[in-house]
Amino acid sequence: MLHMKENCNIFKKTEILERFGIKKKKKFGEESMVRLIRWMKKQKIPLDSSVLDIGTGNGILLVELAKSGYTNLTGIDYSPSAITLSEEIIEEQGLPNIKLQVNDFLTPSAELLGFQICIDKGTFDAISLNPDNAAAKRKQYVESLCRVLNPEGFFLITSCNWTKEELLNEFREGFDFLEELPTPTFCFGGKTGNSVTSLVFQRKKLRHPSLTN
Ligand SMILES: C[S@@+](CC[C@H](N)C(=O)[O-])C[C@H]1O[C@@H](n2cnc3c(N)ncnc32)[C@H](O)[C@@H]1O
Repeated sequence: MLHMKENCNIFKKTEILERFGIKKKKKFGEESMVRLIRWMKKQKIPLDSSVLDIGTGNGILLVELAKSGYTNLTGIDYSPSAITLSEEIIEEQGLPNIKLQVNDFLTPSAELLGFQICIDKGTFDAISLNPDNAAAKRKQYVESLCRVLNPEGFFLITSCNWTKEELLNEFREGFDFLEELPTPTFCFGGKTGNSVTSLVFQRKKLRHPSLTN
């Protein structure tokens, strides 16, 4: 697991390089949005598929999805101020069809159900870093995801704290790994690595009760 401090150092370094015009690099957020939307387009995900952005923050991913033609978008965040901010941004952009709710994903409201796509950028990371029983919170996250995502629905996660192997382990129950999306690499001490991991999972089909034996 990469520590937040290491990540901050990577970002700081990029910022300094940019300031001196050494290498112009796109911001983490922009890059990952482009990557997610490109994947959805490539897979020909229907534009009316129900999409949930888990921990939407300022809602900018939803704005980009709406601009790309997606029409059934919901964003949740447990922070009321994040939801107020995203409402303002979405209103300013003139995109009234995005639904926003204050909702704690670890104890989601009963009506948060039936999504074909769930997207997480940085929220599983934030939950995992909670000093108060993080392992139990990660388990709760996976349970909530199994509840809100339809069988065979897609889960796209972007993390700057967990490696591919660690994420495969976290989501091994209930999900099939589909693919890893390409992310920028860096080289340190002769070794190449990724500061961001972006994976696509598919929720397993529900097994018919008569097939359990
Ligand atoms: C690192 S930020 C990422 C925000 C956004 N996804 C982005 O990429 O800009 C993590 C977000 O998750 C939200 N969050 C953390 N724990 C949450 C929970 N249990 N339920 C819902 N949202 C949560 C935080 O309020 C924050 O907005």
